[in-house]
Amino acid sequence: MHAALAREVIARCRSLAACSDEPGFTTRTFLSPAMRAAHAQLSAWMKAAGMTVSVDAAGNLRGVLAAATAGARTLLIGSHLDTVPHAGAFDGPLGVVIGVALVEQLQGRRLPFNIEVVAFSEEEGVRFGVPFIGSRALVGDVDAKLLETRDASGVSIAEAIRDFGLDPSGVATAAVTPRLRSGQASAPLGYLEFHIEQGPVLHASGKPLAVVDRISGRTAADVAFVGVAGHAGTTPMDARRDAVAGAAVWLRDVEEYARRVPGLVATTGQIVVTPGAANVIAERCRISLDVRHGEDATRTSAVDHLEARAREIARRRQLSLEWSTRLDQPTTPMDARLVAMLKHSVTRAGAPVETMPSGAGHDAMIVAPHMPAAMLFLRTPGGLSHHPDETVLDDDVALALAAGGHFLDELAASIDA
Ligand code: HGY
Ligand code: MN
Ligand code: MN
Repeated sequence: MHAALAREVIARCRSLAACSDEPGFTTRTFLSPAMRAAHAQLSAWMKAAGMTVSVDAAGNLRGVLAAATAGARTLLIGSHLDTVPHAGAFDGPLGVVIGVALVEQLQGRRLPFNIEVVAFSEEEGVRFGVPFIGSRALVGDVDAKLLETRDASGVSIAEAIRDFGLDPSGVATAAVTPRLRSGQASAPLGYLEFHIEQGPVLHASGKPLAVVDRISGRTAADVAFVGVAGHAGTTPMDARRDAVAGAAVWLRDVEEYARRVPGLVATTGQIVVTPGAANVIAERCRISLDVRHGEDATRTSAVDHLEARAREIARRRQLSLEWSTRLDQPTTPMDARLVAMLKHSVTRAGAPVETMPSGAGHDAMIVAPHMPAAMLFLRTPGGLSHHPDETVLDDDVALALAAGGHFLDELAASIDA
């Protein structure tokens, strides 16, 4: 049964990948028209699985399979439905589609807890430069300031929510946690996320699955070197305050520093030059900085070093420096009890039990401070992700479905006990 359902899961992820804002690629950002098309497909699968479907005020698509008895607690199974530009078919959607498949796999059996599958509206942070909008709404962490964040065309998150036909003033109702604080609903049992590893570890070890023990911390910042625009043909080299030339020195330092620190990764994936003409000395060069490490002290000292270096380069070149931290996310441990239950479930599925940290960020790190959270990684062939050729293996998806089924049974048994 798992093999056939695994093929269906992969086919559904590839079908969702066609819901794109960019013909020929998979690019699906926060509440874009492509997201509406993805909601339509996913809602159909959820309804066919006997789930009630809704979209919350943050644009998260949510499907619920009610428990056998009223007033039961809820297990959340989720991941994100948005993508990076030119994405693969599995980063995010795989975790949502597996959640729905686990409900189908119950074949009508009701458990002593509700299952709520959540397709988060924004995890990658592509449109607004702020990640995790969907999962932050789920845990009640979206405020008016965040809703005022604007995209490149000046549209705010609140306006984007309104344009999608939702009411941003109701974003608090998306949260599972305020209800807990006011005692109106029992605490969620926990959160489970299936996700591709997105790196080379399982591919290299030949293992199909891994239980995540912690998710590495991450700092995201915007760094701008600001000089003076000038004529490329008439301005002598020693009279320039060239923003790009200063940034270039720092970019080399970023890579050299990260190469020297074991386990540290630093990425400068976005560079925006203003005015950006070939015959004009650059006035402004804005760079995105993404720094990650499993130990928070190593990450934060790396960020401090890179900021000091940027300021020193700017001073020496009579440039000014603007530094804006967008995210300072600590390393987040997964819940020990759910990790143990997931490891036992993997064993019962007949797969070797691996545990590993996650280098990539995930919605689970936003949810984990508010309820027990766990993640199961599936092998990424070639370690290739955030790339159109990202893929998964049928057999690994079948093993994940088997392990997920055992996890639901173990959780049910722990409640009935
Ligand atoms: O950037 C990340 O780690 C994730 O893919 N959003
Ligand atoms: Mn991603
Ligand atoms: Mn992801």
